Amino acid sequence: MSPDPAPGGVIHLHRPTLGEEEARAIAEALESGQLVQGPRVRAFEAALEGLLGVPHAAAVSSGTAALHLAALALDLGPGDEVVVPDYTFPATAAAFARVGASPVLADVDPDTANVTPATVEAVLSPRTRALVAVHQFGLPAPVEPLRALCDARGIAFVEDAACALGAEVAAPGGPRRCGTFGRLACFSFHPRKAITTAEGGLVTTADPALDARIRLLRNHGMTPGGPTGFVFVEAGLNYRLTEVQAAMGLVQLGRLGGILAARRRLSLGYRERLEALLPDLGLPADPEGAPHTYQTFLVRLPPGVDRAGVMADLREAGVESSVGAHCLHRQPAYSRPDPGDAPFPGASSLGDRGLALPLHPGLGDADLDRVVSALAGALGR
Ligand SMILES: Cc1ncc(COP(=O)(O)O)c(C=O)c1O
Repeated sequence: MSPDPAPGGVIHLHRPTLGEEEARAIAEALESGQLVQGPRVRAFEAALEGLLGVPHAAAVSSGTAALHLAALALDLGPGDEVVVPDYTFPATAAAFARVGASPVLADVDPDTANVTPATVEAVLSPRTRALVAVHQFGLPAPVEPLRALCDARGIAFVEDAACALGAEVAAPGGPRRCGTFGRLACFSFHPRKAITTAEGGLVTTADPALDARIRLLRNHGMTPGGPTGFVFVEAGLNYRLTEVQAAMGLVQLGRLGGILAARRRLSLGYRERLEALLPDLGLPADPEGAPHTYQTFLVRLPPGVDRAGVMADLREAGVESSVGAHCLHRQPAYSRPDPGDAPFPGASSLGDRGLALPLHPGLGDADLDRVVSALAGALGR
């Protein structure tokens, strides 16, 4: 192994929070001999239903599988338009494109990285059948006005809550979790998310018929019955979460409160340091009533700064960074016909100037100091 060139070691962008408990739970699941469709998946689902305050939560094999199942359960297909944020991880759009629907891109507010009622209104058409609002990087999207807009037009409101497990929004009866506002909501348990099952996802809904359809489609479209014991009533898929993953997820769920508190504390530490040292950086919105859960801490560099150069300097100083999410209008899969940057000023500014800094509960104050001083150095301050 080559020696680590950075004094103090590399500060990683992300590291999952894992311990002995996950290893033990995984070993127990393996020893049980039942690797799929057993009690651990159901227990994981029940725990998530309780945490989120939602009647139905179906565990699936990834966040992308969750979104694909949402597209299928809503019977979306050719001729249907689905509004998605221009600035996101492309799975948000891919799942809907895969069923033959057309993703229609809405700009985002550069301070929140989320769509707004105005950016969505601007791209609605008589063919719009669904809006997929992402809670980008763990900051709740404006769910109430977006849902009202959808309800008024008979459009399905879907939440892409891949980054937002545990995020909540103030409501009259007390805070309400992201993932309870849409007709369907989709979560991811990829290692970059707050908790992880290595790969994994979840679909939540208050609608029992949609939940039943999701469960059918994730499991080959089969139900008990008929002369062979099973009837295949729909062309289904295998998007099941395994017992091994659910065992890990149950332990991870127990850590969620601590993980979110640590991420928030570290993010506030970044804010303090950056406001003092680099006041011209754009910092993420963190509104009262819909606080950020900081799945990612994304700053916006000042206009004209060479981001690739900054990232290279950070790497040299042993600090990992990334560009955050992607502008779909710049990606060949979603840019037909190429609209250029003009309709997407918010997304384009994030796409050009966004910079995700290291954030995970394994970091300490000294790491924050090192990241911020490396960033200041890279910016020539
Ligand atoms: C907003 C968003 N949606 C969907 C996904 C897809 O989730 P997964 O990686 O679990 O398939 C991701 C993951 O990166 C994401 O960030």
